[in-house]
Amino acid sequence: MQLRNRRIVVTGCAGFIGSHLTERLLRQRNSVVGIDNLSAGKHEFMQSFGKIGSFEFIEGDLLRLDLGRTLNKADTVCHFAANPDVRVGASDTKVHFEQNILATYRILEWMREGGVGRILFPSTSTVYGEPTVIPTPETYGPLIPISMYGASKLACEALIAAYCHNFDLSAVIYRFANVVGARSTHNVLHDFVKKLKENPRRLEILGAEPGTRKSYVHVADCVDAMIVGAEGAKEQVEILNIGSRDRIAVREITDIVVDAMKLKDVEYLWTGGVRGGRGWVGDVKEMLLSIDKIGKLGWKPRYGSVEAIRKAVQEIVEES
Ligand SMILES: NC(=O)c1ccc[n+]([C@@H]2O[C@H](COP(=O)([O-])OP(=O)(O)OC[C@H]3O[C@@H](n4cnc5c(N)ncnc54)[C@H](O)[C@@H]3O)[C@@H](O)[C@H]2O)c1
Repeated sequence: MQLRNRRIVVTGCAGFIGSHLTERLLRQRNSVVGIDNLSAGKHEFMQSFGKIGSFEFIEGDLLRLDLGRTLNKADTVCHFAANPDVRVGASDTKVHFEQNILATYRILEWMREGGVGRILFPSTSTVYGEPTVIPTPETYGPLIPISMYGASKLACEALIAAYCHNFDLSAVIYRFANVVGARSTHNVLHDFVKKLKENPRRLEILGAEPGTRKSYVHVADCVDAMIVGAEGAKEQVEILNIGSRDRIAVREITDIVVDAMKLKDVEYLWTGGVRGGRGWVGDVKEMLLSIDKIGKLGWKPRYGSVEAIRKAVQEIVEES
């Protein structure tokens, strides 16, 4: 199904990935109604929307809004609002339950009642937990997440699948690797850039050297992949991994960030980490997704992990 000339609701439209996706949807002549409570999102990320196309913003919280009254009928919902911070789940067990599972349930109920037929949903590599197959394909199982965040996203996937079967909806579920780029507000790059701006001589790194090894995808590639995936989906519930073809260790990321910021002789202070060198409880140590399935739909990443990180650091430094 072409994502053109449609009426689309984007939740989390003022956030990192949601704002890039909204921009693309507007450029493809869709009219977009965006919802965000601005807990992490920012008005400035939405500045261009009105100039590009038909955009209406509703500031509000998905857990409180009467969606039936607030929103008119739409063709498609891109449900990107969530709490994406893996770390927080180890100390607050409620946040992902409410912001991710409950908010998704409310969206699905509104879709059922309002006859909205399609949902695009950003899930995550963390649903795989610590898989024994790497690169990990979409068919891998059993799925045993090790973080509250991963658990909540897996619960959302399950709810979406059941709603599709029971109420004739269709869904594209994207399992993202780590997405990086301009407007990100919480990830390892953002953390490093912020720390190095405060103190360019010393960098504290969570974990034990050389750190976790994961795959990174640039947000521009990620948005392209989502469009290709949505337009090429064949199944009622299509699950697609999105990432790059390689992975890199935190140790290499620190060097790229330091180099991109043109710093020298930075002292690295590894905290030692938890549970065998992880940055935090629930942090997966190895992650690389198989992207063969979306590759068959015609997408391939322009940037590998190193290029994606290098480009993202440049963008983060420029905007901070
Ligand atoms: N960034 C990544 O690497 C990554 C990886 C996998 C999956 N995801 C998923 O992609 C989506 C977007 O992530 P992101 O990195 O852009 O995060 P983000 O925090 O930048 O964006 C989330 C947006 O949702 C809004 N929001 C949160 N709770 C809300 C609520 N209850 N009501 C209304 N608005 C609310 C926030 O203000 C924010 O603008 C999330 O669902 C996240 O779980 C992100």
